[in-house]
Amino acid sequence: MSTVLEENATGLTTENTGRFDAAEKRLINCNSVDVNQLMPLKYKWAWEHYVNGCANHWMPTEVPMTKDIETWRSDKLSDAERRVVMRNLGFFATAESLVGNNLVLAIFKHVTNAECRQYLLRQAFEEAVHTHTFLYIVDSLGLDESEVFNMYREVPAIAKKDDLEMELTREVLDPDFITDTDESAQAFLKNLIGYYAIMEGIFFYSGFVMMLSFHRRNLMTGVAEQFQYILRDETIHLNFGLDLINGIKSENPHLWTEEFQAQIISRVREAVDLEIEYAQDCLPNGVLGLNADLFKDYVQHIADRRLERLGLPTQYNSGNPFPWMSETIDLAKEKNFFETRVTEYQTSGTLSWD
Ligand SMILES: [Fe+2]
Ligand SMILES: [Fe+2]
Repeated sequence: MSTVLEENATGLTTENTGRFDAAEKRLINCNSVDVNQLMPLKYKWAWEHYVNGCANHWMPTEVPMTKDIETWRSDKLSDAERRVVMRNLGFFATAESLVGNNLVLAIFKHVTNAECRQYLLRQAFEEAVHTHTFLYIVDSLGLDESEVFNMYREVPAIAKKDDLEMELTREVLDPDFITDTDESAQAFLKNLIGYYAIMEGIFFYSGFVMMLSFHRRNLMTGVAEQFQYILRDETIHLNFGLDLINGIKSENPHLWTEEFQAQIISRVREAVDLEIEYAQDCLPNGVLGLNADLFKDYVQHIADRRLERLGLPTQYNSGNPFPWMSETIDLAKEKNFFETRVTEYQTSGTLSWD
């Protein structure tokens, strides 16, 4: 059998000795398996997340906005309610692009596994759909697009959250960055945790609660329905991300040092403070039965859940003031929870592992 030395997509040299065993696959720093060959699978969870993501396909332009346009033009909404909508559009409009760019430019290259890359390609498309959603909402409601798409620079509570993320992207984007040392592999894990557990797992959740609260009051239901679809997609993004992080941890236990764990905990605590500040900025006087104090507990509660999933000690032990959110997320797993449109989108013909 001939041995071929070739450059793989990560810039590492791969020693390709012909057919391989799935057990040889590694999530990062894989030097023995060509990343272009999907089968045989090793990480079935990655393929399952891909199939589930595809089964949830939706497009924002298919959600009718007529009622929302009427409501937005009427006097049904208070200034405080309008502020909540605007702030969340402003945050998400750019956050989706930050996640998409980080995925394609920083994460993709260093994940050396075909089934995970298959999921990343699906996720990247979903992030494009999410960015599209905010453009569609801004256009439909006749909002000032430069106001919405500049909030990530102009509204301090949003800028601080995004700065924390953009710094993580810059580190990995360095053209010389590769994950072959403990220090650089930890930097890569820090990026994954910063995007999957913090951005998509904490920074998105106050916005989800606020916008889904409109739906509960039968206001801005088109926008809120689109947030429900995004929440459903993000639930899979978060679960894939945690599986990927935990997979890298178990293949490289030496990276998960006490010191590194302490760094992650302190970063999560910093993110919790920023998210509470964001909720206060959105809701200075409370609205829709929501106020900033409730968000303090909520953000701490979900941060503890993310820490648990990473195998780290919980920090806050706060109660969940919005139990209906967990129900919404749990119900999102049911095929018939979202309105008929989504059920119709469920596709058949998925692979079975049995
Ligand atoms: Fe997204
Ligand atoms: Fe996402």
